[in-house]
Amino acid sequence: MSDLKHLFEQNRLWSEQMRTENPDFFKRLASIQSPEYLWIGCSDSRVPANQITGLLPGEVFVHRNVANLVVHSDLNCLSVLQFAVDVLRVKHILVVGHYGCGGVKAAHENLRLGLVDNWLRHIQDVRQKHARLLDACPTTESRIDRLCELNVVEQVLNVSQTTVLQEAWNRGQDVTVHGWIFGLDNGLAQDLYISICSRDGMQDIYDAAIARVEIPDLTEKVGLTA
Ligand code: CO
Repeated sequence: MSDLKHLFEQNRLWSEQMRTENPDFFKRLASIQSPEYLWIGCSDSRVPANQITGLLPGEVFVHRNVANLVVHSDLNCLSVLQFAVDVLRVKHILVVGHYGCGGVKAAHENLRLGLVDNWLRHIQDVRQKHARLLDACPTTESRIDRLCELNVVEQVLNVSQTTVLQEAWNRGQDVTVHGWIFGLDNGLAQDLYISICSRDGMQDIYDAAIARVEIPDLTEKVGLTA
């Protein structure tokens, strides 16, 4: 417990600072939760949702797991999704991957880490699905970067195919699923140009996003570093 004193101290300072800036901040926060965004990201400690987007407590609902996967039988993720869409009525769902993802690297290299291998098997399915594209990558680094991007695109499709999103769109609810990727080396999030806001045209949007990934080293070409 004593080892964690500094965390309580930092917490006290943060609370004071927030109340100095806005005396009613916590009073308002305690009374209602109405975030516009659901963040589905990696558990990686270097990819914190609020800091990256500059959003305050109360502004983003968060689900994180190893390698930002959306698996159709994962009750945890599906429950977060259902609550966010049906109850909180978020407008945007951000699936956010990141370059240098340990989960993606482990899956790519067939590492044996234990139970988590079964979870990472979903990324190996993505790798297998896009083997032709990945095999064409000139370097291992670029292949892993592309796999990080493809994994996000696939998870956006998975979110869009859940009963939660399908039913929300059926009743005309305004909610869009986006795919982003975050660079650990520059702190910047990039859009992967897959935004799905209805059942119509989902496949075309997905195909276009995959085609963008397919251009080797696209990130270098547009002047952004991965
Ligand atoms: Co990661």
